[in-house]
Amino acid sequence: MIDWDKHPLPERFRHHLSANNYMPLKDIKFDPFNYPPLYESIDWSEYFTNGLPPKYLDIGCGFGWFAMDFSTQITDNILGIEVREKAVNYAKTVVESESLENINFLWYSVVNGLEFIEKETIKKIFYFFPDPWFKKKHFKRRAFSVDFLQFCYEALEDKGELLLQTDIDMVQEYHLETLSEFGKFDFKVVSLEEPWDYPTTNREKDCIKNGFKYYRIIATKNVR
Ligand SMILES: C[S@@+](CC[C@H](N)C(=O)[O-])C[C@H]1O[C@@H](n2cnc3c(N)ncnc32)[C@H](O)[C@@H]1O
Repeated sequence: MIDWDKHPLPERFRHHLSANNYMPLKDIKFDPFNYPPLYESIDWSEYFTNGLPPKYLDIGCGFGWFAMDFSTQITDNILGIEVREKAVNYAKTVVESESLENINFLWYSVVNGLEFIEKETIKKIFYFFPDPWFKKKHFKRRAFSVDFLQFCYEALEDKGELLLQTDIDMVQEYHLETLSEFGKFDFKVVSLEEPWDYPTTNREKDCIKNGFKYYRIIATKNVR
């Protein structure tokens, strides 16, 4: 396990970026300032020591603690995807100082899709504690949508899983409604008492510390 006391999180950190960063680039009329690059393909030898593509994705990984802890439990590669460049820079510094070989991070807004991931290759996609965007006028900033589910569905191998967590009731409802609307995943709500063999995310640690209730969903791709 990584000793996180050695890697304090950056201080005075912006939680949210300008609205453009949460929109697909194709929907933005003018060239947005400091928008994360798009990728059609990626040379994985620049990301992982073994040069192989990732088998796990952590989307909206924040500072990457969950993904880095998880990387120590697996031999496959895991890619963290995050729209805040400073969080990615922090996570990459930890990867380097801990000499982690099977994890890396991509500064990217996932609303642009997962074209750079070869189809039907991913074992699990983690999408944990997304920004809730409470106001109706901000709902369109949520990355989770039918389009997002289609990107995930295409990336996952048969029996691959999309795992969701949130501590916000309305987001849990929204995830369940959107999964129903999409219709291609088999999905179930998993209680906190059921087995869950994954490290604790930063937001999840806050929930546990403060006694907040939170929710889990596992959506499975079952090719029939
Ligand atoms: C509340 S944080 C949760 C971080 C981490 N998953 C956890 O559980 O502690 C949500 C993260 O999703 C990122 N995010 C929001 N929209 C995104 C997008 N379109 N593409 C990539 N990351 C995004 C945010 O920048 C933020 O770091």
